[in-house]
Amino acid sequence: MNIKINENYDNLKESYLFSETAKRINKYSAENPDKKVIKLSIGDVTLPLTKTVIAAMHKAVDEMADKDTFRGYPPEYGYDFLREAIAGYYERHGVKIDADEVFVSDGAKSDCGNIVDILGDNDILIPDPVYPVYMDSNIMSGRNIQLLQANIDNNFLPMPDGLEKKPYIIYLCSPNNPTGAVYTKEQLAKWVGFANESGSLIIFDAAYESFINGDYPRSIYAVEGARTCAVEICSFSKMAGFTGTRCSWSVFPKELEAGGKSLKKMWERRQATKFNGVPYIIQRAAEAAISPDGYKEAMENIKYYMGNAKLISELLKEKGIWFSGGVCSPYIWLKCPNGMDSWTFFDWLLENAQVGGTPGAGFGAEGEGYFRLTAFGSRENTEEAIERLKKIL
Ligand code: MLT
Repeated sequence: MNIKINENYDNLKESYLFSETAKRINKYSAENPDKKVIKLSIGDVTLPLTKTVIAAMHKAVDEMADKDTFRGYPPEYGYDFLREAIAGYYERHGVKIDADEVFVSDGAKSDCGNIVDILGDNDILIPDPVYPVYMDSNIMSGRNIQLLQANIDNNFLPMPDGLEKKPYIIYLCSPNNPTGAVYTKEQLAKWVGFANESGSLIIFDAAYESFINGDYPRSIYAVEGARTCAVEICSFSKMAGFTGTRCSWSVFPKELEAGGKSLKKMWERRQATKFNGVPYIIQRAAEAAISPDGYKEAMENIKYYMGNAKLISELLKEKGIWFSGGVCSPYIWLKCPNGMDSWTFFDWLLENAQVGGTPGAGFGAEGEGYFRLTAFGSRENTEEAIERLKKIL
């Protein structure tokens, strides 16, 4: 063909981090069929959907079977019942959001990647290490990316001190994937202050807010001034086990504007053109997940996962291995033992314990020498992985 292609793709790593780890784990499994590999790599949930969610899905399925209640195309921005339920969820956590500022989507990953569509050629600030979608989607668009180094010295929480006061697109993720670090309200207030003074936009990824344990903001809008500088992206995936069910949301406050244009209106235009909405059955399930009963059940599941995190943390403490996370996040971020680099440790762990994890270097250069384990496994698998690790670490 003689067409021009997006040459920015040449600047990406050959495959997406979680595809690469899955590929290597699957290859090992295929070559060693007698060995049971325990995957503590991608943050995928293992507990089933809860009974309140399932009941809502069944009811919605029945509605789809009846010509009087059948639904066709869903509204592009989400059904009002779910937008209102999400606004109510914020209100329960002390944050005021209007339902028409909430945009229902099929995943935080999609919105993190798609938001680039409505933004021009800005300088981008991305923490390193962090969830790879921010980086990859901006590389795909050929943006100029500046990294915010996160390391032990700043508790993996980079701050705006020393940054030039110019407009940036700033990605923040708290609780952080992969490190589990959480910003305090004072720290987020500094970012919001910086963004408002410099005319920057913060894209706040709150996908792990439901794991917060302690006095940390669950939403950037808990910070005064955030409505004029921040979009928030959040998800039902980790909160309610929707990784396979697919439902998330983004918040675009009415005050957000750049060059006299409303970002909310631009997102509406984008979504109406390129997205056909989340299925009715799934939106009913999501509504149920944040109902009082559904949320209580979701919190029980989170408690279970955090029990896994505690077991992994105890092992690392016993072995004297440095780690963070596992308190306000389902991820444990550990320093690879004996100075191993991330991918060497990945191979070593797979080979010697048949445990799969995620190499820290895959989240950015600052992640080199670190490794991420997820607490989303089943208790049995987590316990078995711990037994194996006990023997070799
Ligand atoms: C992760 O393991 O970091 C997440 O599951 C990836 C995602 O949410 O897309």
